[in-house]
Amino acid sequence: MKPPPPPPPSSSSSGGGVLRKSRGLSPYLFILLAFILFVTILYGEDFSCFFGGQFDSNYHQLHQTFSSSSSTTTSFAVRARVLLVHVCVCVFSVLEKKGENQKLAFALTGEEEGDRKPGGGGGGVGNCDVFSGRWVWDDVARPLYEESECPYIQPQLTCQEHGRPDKDYQHWRWQPHDCSLPSFNATLMLESLRGKRMMFVGDSLNRGQYVSMICLLHSIIPENSKSMETFGSLTVFSAKDYNATIEFYWAPFLLESNSDDAVVHRIADRMVRKGSINKHGKHWKGVDIMVFNTYLWWMTGLEFKILQGSFEDKEKDVVKLPTEEAYRMAMKSMLRWVKKNMDPDKTRVFFTSMSPSHGKSIEWGGDENGNCYNETKMIDDLTYWGSDSRKSIMSVIGQVFGNSKVPITFLNITQLSSYRKDAHTSIYKKQWTPLTDEQLANPVSYADCVHWCLPGLQDTWNELLYSKLFYP
Ligand SMILES: *[C@@H]1O[C@H](CO)[C@@H](O)[C@H](O)[C@H]1NC(C)=O
Ligand SMILES: *[C@@H]1O[C@H](CO)[C@@H](O)[C@H](O)[C@H]1NC(C)=O
Ligand SMILES: *[C@@H]1O[C@H](CO)[C@@H](O)[C@H](O)[C@H]1NC(C)=O
Ligand SMILES: *[C@@H]1O[C@H](CO)[C@@H](O)[C@H](O)[C@H]1NC(C)=O
Repeated sequence: MKPPPPPPPSSSSSGGGVLRKSRGLSPYLFILLAFILFVTILYGEDFSCFFGGQFDSNYHQLHQTFSSSSSTTTSFAVRARVLLVHVCVCVFSVLEKKGENQKLAFALTGEEEGDRKPGGGGGGVGNCDVFSGRWVWDDVARPLYEESECPYIQPQLTCQEHGRPDKDYQHWRWQPHDCSLPSFNATLMLESLRGKRMMFVGDSLNRGQYVSMICLLHSIIPENSKSMETFGSLTVFSAKDYNATIEFYWAPFLLESNSDDAVVHRIADRMVRKGSINKHGKHWKGVDIMVFNTYLWWMTGLEFKILQGSFEDKEKDVVKLPTEEAYRMAMKSMLRWVKKNMDPDKTRVFFTSMSPSHGKSIEWGGDENGNCYNETKMIDDLTYWGSDSRKSIMSVIGQVFGNSKVPITFLNITQLSSYRKDAHTSIYKKQWTPLTDEQLANPVSYADCVHWCLPGLQDTWNELLYSKLFYP
């Protein structure tokens, strides 16, 4: 800071003195006014704190403190400095408030929300950890739709159609400990998607959540104004009257990999190419609501192969990294892509944590050779966490998001899904190859303990997404 202008002579209380005093202040005032004008225009903020009561009392207190020990000759310079300090404090507090109160895209403010969450006042779920809670039996309001009413569910997830004898798995509702989830309003969701694109990017588990979202919405769209089409890696559901699309893009690693064929992708020797997110990312541009996941395909062991050159190279330059580090690299690529391509003021990005599987019943105190087959009850132990959900990967997710300012809403569905050993498709799904007699004799051997029946658990993931979208 420049030194204050020379103090006016103490004897001057005449008109000339006043003139000189105001001349002494003017550079500060000028800078101040210019600064206020600049910030006001730039941020369009309410700077009432300049003029409010707090200003006056701050000002007088500070002024008295300063001037009591100094002669009146310096009081104007001091006053000017105090004023400048105050303005800085005021500007910072306003900008800080702006940061805190910045409205996320799609978030509802008090007035616009037609649908208030039951028993939750109007406050949103912002301060409540919606992922911490318990499952409660709800025979009345669950399931949110019938399996037979949603033609979009792929035959790998239609459990009833494939002979599942029980239905209890459809009747559980997630109840957070400290609040209630808003009820899913399909009209509100579709209206918010008017003229917009929502996209799920990831693996078959994300495809399950995608289909669940369509099932939650499609019944309010007339038959002749909706369609679903697949073009290679991209599946597009269109609601024509709304000019809205809900899409799924197959990219199980987010990065380019040798498992990118949306149909033929069962490759044992998996590999991803370093820094290749734009290979797929170029198809994600212009999306308004993005939902990423990636996890299961990384789980081939303790190390993962990273390709340094191109998949076309004859001599492939491959390095092995600890799986956690390979995963971290992909997460960072995703964040960079989001930062570059998504406008934080108009769009939202979600990331869904790992979906647990239930392949070893010994982990929940069951049979030594069992898995999710024949399981119709959930796990009661609130601390249960299966070995298939690697904690080290969860830490990587926490670290990567923790160190980033890119606004991504994290859907931490792992714990609440870990209880749901009853919710997998098990043997009740379309089998692509006929089962052998040996398999038929031992259903455990071909039970799918990774994917989830619809309706079911993944509708809850979308209720959580819904709550974070509108009531963050
Ligand atoms: C659902 O949302 C629409 C659009 O915001 C609103 O008009 C309607 O009242 C809501 N329905 C319920 C049951 O809250
Ligand atoms: C339909 O939505 C797309 C974005 O998904 C937008 O670019 C386009 O202008 C919209 N068309 C009309 C007619 O509103
Ligand atoms: C399925 O579990 C029930 C107990 O819940 C048991 O009585 C039955 O034998 C089991 N069926 C098979 C085929 O394992
Ligand atoms: C997700 O939730 C689990 C269980 O509550 C917790 O242990 C984990 O740290 C959370 N993950 C992140 C990245 O916050």
